[in-house]
Amino acid sequence: MLPPRILVTGANGLVGQALTRAAARWPGADVLATGRGPAAAHDRGGYARLDVLDGDAVDRAFQDFAPDVVLHAAGLAQVEPCEADREACWALNVDAVGTMASACHRHGARLVLPSTDFVFDGKGGPYAEDDRPAPINAYGRSKLAAENAMKASRLLDWAVARTTMVFGAPAGPEPRLDFVRWLVRELSAGRPVRVPADQLRTPTYDDDLADGILRIVRFKRTGVFHVSGREQLSVLDFARRVAEAFDLDIGLISPATTEDLHPGAPRPLHAGLLILRAESELGYHPRPLDVALGAVRDRLGLGVSEA
Ligand SMILES: NC(=O)c1ccc[n+]([C@@H]2O[C@H](COP(=O)([O-])OP(=O)(O)OC[C@H]3O[C@@H](n4cnc5c(N)ncnc54)[C@H](OP(=O)(O)O)[C@@H]3O)[C@@H](O)[C@H]2O)c1
Repeated sequence: MLPPRILVTGANGLVGQALTRAAARWPGADVLATGRGPAAAHDRGGYARLDVLDGDAVDRAFQDFAPDVVLHAAGLAQVEPCEADREACWALNVDAVGTMASACHRHGARLVLPSTDFVFDGKGGPYAEDDRPAPINAYGRSKLAAENAMKASRLLDWAVARTTMVFGAPAGPEPRLDFVRWLVRELSAGRPVRVPADQLRTPTYDDDLADGILRIVRFKRTGVFHVSGREQLSVLDFARRVAEAFDLDIGLISPATTEDLHPGAPRPLHAGLLILRAESELGYHPRPLDVALGAVRDRLGLGVSEA
């Protein structure tokens, strides 16, 4: 395949930054990172402001940059804000995806959308691609509707990359804290934390997710792929592994139930993703969890233990 022109939306976010880094490593590829505000972290390659809710601006971006591929990482990825403002959640997570799919169809571009294991009800995970979605909160419903909007569009070259509990070390003045960095901040400050013991996930290192998504593009694959870590564990056990990896005090972590922590917004409990399809069809091999946590520690500049 000729080196493509790759447009990344939401490029200041956790997933968008990882996708931009991975795309920039593609020899010869022309990458345009776009985001709503000023560039958070893109000192190489192009960056432009693009509000994906603005259909005219999206059209202009296609005319000016003529992408072959769009990696659509703009979205509202948090459960509580989606419950609190369902209209805003729907506009960004669903309507803007429909706009993007139409633009890709008109301009002959391929579209890849990150999605989530929150499209499932959490009664039977880890989930395979053909398991039946049944979301239980507004965020999950919006992401399933986005998947369906792509499928229902006239675009043929689309792919969905479902993932879960992404962690990494994005740059920028105030990046939204993922679970790992939130936990490291709290434990480093000596603050006790309560984390759910009843939620199972397959946590995903951001660079692995980006590698999996770029493989979907390189192999010109369409349809739904599960791209996450391989290891399913409870969020409580994940927290303990993080504390170990960062030499922090495990005693500060105590178990709680999801109902106690988030009474207003249910989460799927037994979730996480099976990645057999991505492994066998894309050669996707995420690094083991402890290796990924070591990589985050290095990226945060905490890699060398102080004497
Ligand atoms: N993080 C996870 O664990 C996870 C798991 C499964 C799926 N996903 C999916 O991955 C995608 C990205 O999530 P993330 O974790 O990277 O979230 P994130 O860190 O919050 O990034 C989302 C980005 O979207 C941008 N954005 C919001 N509204 C926009 C608009 N109107 N136009 C352009 N950009 C806009 C945000 O810009 P600002 O910086 O200006 O707010 C932010 O940079 C989402 O679709 C999410 O559903 C994430």
